This record gives sequence, C-alpha cells and structure tokens, in this order.
Amino acid sequence: MIVKSVNPMFELAGDARASEETLKGLDAWRDLDPKQQPQYTDPAELEGALEQLRRVPPLVFAGEADQLKAQIAAASRGEAFLLAGGDCAESFEDSTADSIRRRVQTILQMAAVLTYGAAVPVVKMGRMAGQYAKPRSSDVETRDGVTLPSYRGDIVNSHEFTEEARRPDPARLLDAYHASASTLNLMRAFTKGGFADLRQVHQWNRGFLGANENYVRYEKMAGDIDRALRFMDACGVDFDAMRTVEFYSAHEALLLEYEQALTRIDSRTGDPYDVSGHFLWIGERTRDIDGAHVDFLSRVKNPIGVKLGPNATADDALRLAEKLDPEGEPGRLTFITRMGAQTIGEALPKLLAAVKDDLPQVTWMCDPMHGNTITASNGYKTRRFEDVMGEVTGFFRAHQEVGTVPGGIHVELTGNDVTEVMGGGANIDEEGLQRRYETLVDPRLNHDQSLEMAFQVAEYLTEGTD
Ligand code: PEP
Ligand code: CO
Repeated sequence: MIVKSVNPMFELAGDARASEETLKGLDAWRDLDPKQQPQYTDPAELEGALEQLRRVPPLVFAGEADQLKAQIAAASRGEAFLLAGGDCAESFEDSTADSIRRRVQTILQMAAVLTYGAAVPVVKMGRMAGQYAKPRSSDVETRDGVTLPSYRGDIVNSHEFTEEARRPDPARLLDAYHASASTLNLMRAFTKGGFADLRQVHQWNRGFLGANENYVRYEKMAGDIDRALRFMDACGVDFDAMRTVEFYSAHEALLLEYEQALTRIDSRTGDPYDVSGHFLWIGERTRDIDGAHVDFLSRVKNPIGVKLGPNATADDALRLAEKLDPEGEPGRLTFITRMGAQTIGEALPKLLAAVKDDLPQVTWMCDPMHGNTITASNGYKTRRFEDVMGEVTGFFRAHQEVGTVPGGIHVELTGNDVTEVMGGGANIDEEGLQRRYETLVDPRLNHDQSLEMAFQVAEYLTEGTD
C-alpha cells in the first residue's frame, strides 16, 4: 500500500503529512504504460526488494534539493553556471575509491577554470551516485544467433552476455542503493575535506597544461588565474574557509519502481521528494508529455531536467513546462538540449526564440554528447571532440543571438585516461580508440579532454565565441 511506502523524512523535524491525493498521485505512472522498464519475472522478488528500499534512509535531503534549486535558479539568470559531469552509466565494479576520486577531481578542475571564465559561482553536479539505469533502443540484443535481454544498466542486469547475467534481477535495486550511498559518502568526504581547495585544484591544472604542447594556448588563462589567486591572497581572503564546496548528485530518473520506492514525504511541508539524488532528469526517449516519467517527476519537488533532442518543438517545451513547472518556479526546470553539432545552429535559436517570453524561469543547459554519437569504421561507438565542442559553440551562439542565458553544460566524462572520444589535444584517432576503450555504454571524454573543454568554454565565457 502506498501510504506505507512513503515515509516521513525526519520524524522530529516537523509533522506535515502528505494528503491522500498526493500519495495516490505517486502511483499514477503505473497506468501510463511506462517506457524503458525491465520485465521482472518474479513479482514477489521485486516486491521484496522494493519493500526494503521503502525503509532505507534517504540518500539526499529535501533541504539540499531546495538549496540546489535556488542555485539553478541563479544560473537561469546568469548569476551562476552549472556543470554536470560523469559516466554515461556508472557500474558497480567501477565504484572504487580511485575511480570516484578521479571523477570528482576532474569535475573540480573543470569547475575552477569555468569559475574564472564565467566570473560567477559554478554549481557542481556529478552524474554520479545513482546513474545506473540506461534507456536502450531495443529490448533485446542478438549475438551469433543468440537473443537475450539488452543490458539496461547495473541497477537492472549485468553486461555479460549470458542468460543468467542478462536476467533483470531485483536484488540489484538494493545493490544500486548501496553503491550510491558509498559513492555519495566519498563525494561528500572529498568535497568537505580540503581536497577541493582552490589553490590545490589550480596546481593540478598547471600539471595538465605542461603535459601536452597543444595546450599552450591555455597558458595565458592559467597565468591569469595564478594572478587572481595571488590577488585574493594579498587581500587577505581566507582560503581555508573556502575548502568546502557543494557537490550534488544527478541521474536519469528512468527506473520508476526504484525512484518511487526512494520517494519520501518532507515532514516540513508534506511534499514528496525523490531522495535517490538531488537532481533528476528525464531522457530524450521518455519525455512524452502524457508518459509515465513526466507524470512521476511532475509530482516530486526536486529540481529536474528534461533532455531536448533536435526534433523537440516549441510546443513540446511549453507543454512540458506547463506540466512539470506549472508555477514557473525558478530552478525547478532545466532544459538540457542535445541537438548535434550540425543541427544546433538551426534548431536551438528557433526553439529559444519561440519560448523565451513564456518560459523566463527555465534554465538552459547544453549536453554536447548525445547528439554527436557516431560509429567509427572499426566498429567503435565514439564521438569527435570537435563535434562536441562544435555543439558547445552553437549553444553559446544561439543564446547570444536570442538574448537568453546559457546556464551550464552537461557532459559524459571519466577521470581516467581512456580513449573513447576521438580528437582533442592528444589527437586520438580511430586506431587509437582500441588502446583503452572501457565504457559499457557511451564514449566519455577522458581527463585531458574534459579539461580542454573547460578551458575552451572558459574562453567563450570571457571572450565570446567569435
Ligand atoms: C544520457 O544522458 O545518458 C542519455 C541517454 O541521454 P539522452 O536521453 O539525451 O539520449
Ligand atoms: Co550516454
């Protein structure tokens, strides 16, 4: 029963209760033929896992989600800039301290550079601590005449191509919760414990710049940052007081059983929050206005995003906003555009111009990854760094042209030296892809490519795109 499934978050913090209607509404998605859900074979086994998830402590708190919402609202006005980065799909195996540290480090390094470029606070989010469910183009995969369920992310099944591994396993819902909890614990520790000290982060960037002769063009900016830090120091800025940064978790709210089981009532207000992560987004494939995902996320109070691909119309954007953000609350709704480098120049200015007067509260973010995925001649799923940057350029140009605010970027990256995206300073070519291609789903920027992007975006922010 639903009432049992939605516990008050803080028994002592307040006594507001959700209305019957609110609680019932959280189940409404079930009648809307949800897309991209696994077919679990044993309902009792699923129910057992969900029952446990309904009792576990929240991963994030409503107050933190509200705080992030306020920061996203600032980004909609150009008073902050959002940076979201992390794996296409996190995996349980890669939830190690080293891997998490390197991702957090890469995002902090990018943020330091972007802060200088944007001259406003950079709001940091990881596609981390919950990014375990993936939409797939087909329910099944066939290899050598054998057909099995597609890999839908570690929260559902395993990547290995065997019948047992590909069976959707409800126990993985709990594994995903625990992996999220330990990832988030480390994210919080790294960003509260001095690791995020701006002086240290800037030194790491200095090391990066020395590593490749193609990066000399960024030396000037690094020198400018040096001077700015010395200036702050001379003015008596207390760097030790700034050793703590906020770092938020974000993931695609795809697997609705999981998201609902981790929804709790905020006892301050009686409102439901999805406490599986701070920021949740709806993917390009599940954003139908009458669909289950839009319905579910319309009922929780977190800040949310919706991906908009090249075919998104102004009408789509307006109707999504009406349903997901009927009150026009700043920070509530972010549109994450992912149009493709070839298409964005046409499509984005048109979309922005058509909706800007009606949706002044919306925040616009650029995902330069998902519209630029290609298959290399040797079969690798990859992206070209120049296309990725091309989309970022198109994003800034479009907002400049229309007079709207470019609020942030959303990228797939890892802190490791993988070779999954072609190009960049190290000029990875098709051959080079096989050196270290590790992603289970989409190709990610490696550490150096991520920083190169940050320096280029910082240039756009300080000097414009021309
Ligand atoms: C993603 O962000 O991993 C994703 C699947 O994106 P999109 O919904 O934009 O295709
Ligand atoms: Co992806």
